Amino acid sequence: MTKRTTPESIRAAADAFRGRYQPGRVRGLLVAGSGLSLEVPGWEADEVIELAEVFDFQTHELMGHSQTVTLWRRGGETLMVMNGRFHLYQGYRPEEVVAPVRLAGLLGAEVFIATNASGALDPEMAPGSLVVVSDHINLQGSNPLVGDWGRDFGPPFPDMSVAYDPELRRLALEAAADAGFDAREGVYCAMLGPSFETPAEIRMLISVGGTVVGMSTVPEVIAARQMGIRVCVLSLAANPAAGLVDRELTHAEVMDEGRKAADRFRVMLGNLVSKVFI
Ligand code: HPA
Repeated sequence: MTKRTTPESIRAAADAFRGRYQPGRVRGLLVAGSGLSLEVPGWEADEVIELAEVFDFQTHELMGHSQTVTLWRRGGETLMVMNGRFHLYQGYRPEEVVAPVRLAGLLGAEVFIATNASGALDPEMAPGSLVVVSDHINLQGSNPLVGDWGRDFGPPFPDMSVAYDPELRRLALEAAADAGFDAREGVYCAMLGPSFETPAEIRMLISVGGTVVGMSTVPEVIAARQMGIRVCVLSLAANPAAGLVDRELTHAEVMDEGRKAADRFRVMLGNLVSKVFI
């Protein structure tokens, strides 16, 4: 029987994590696409931890995705760097998807930085462009605060009017341009997936003001904001969204664009981490 994730089980996981890994002062959580390697001056990669050992819900494997967290240390400080993430479309419950954010928040994280891949809603946007997310539209049909989660992690009705931190957005745009990305701000539309969108859905998203469309990150952003954690999200526009070009969309194409951008991502995230965690 799989156990249900509760506020109590997340608190117990955080206590166990603290005892076992002695993270000291956790500064932030960085969630990067799978396969991302990072180099940050001053920070040293230490333990690589399977998330299946941290949480007691059942984890699922999906091609191209593994779920580990690496502890990066600098003196008595820790940065938690997640490789891969939990998606709703893999069958995780919303509270499981946001469990790493809860864990980091309970350990003191002030900042949540995430990268993801998306489809571009603007036909002019070249694959490999980067969108620094300034706002989102949640069309996943779920919210990680439903139920007990408004009880003791923060307000049950958190304000989302400035969910994406303006100062972090500014730093991210700078870091992205320095790393050679064509970067701009924009609105991330979150769909449940895992099927790609239909052309009619894409026309809808364009008409409501979306810039890119993806299947992740929004639950984590909501949980982070509830806990008062500052948020920065960078979305790699990997492909033109469905119907904007006359060909099929494939997961392989998205992964391929991610691999092509890996070096720029490494430079950009190293740069951003140095600017944010002074
Ligand atoms: N749609 C949804 N999610 C995505 C896409 C897309 O076109 N590309 C990468 N992730």
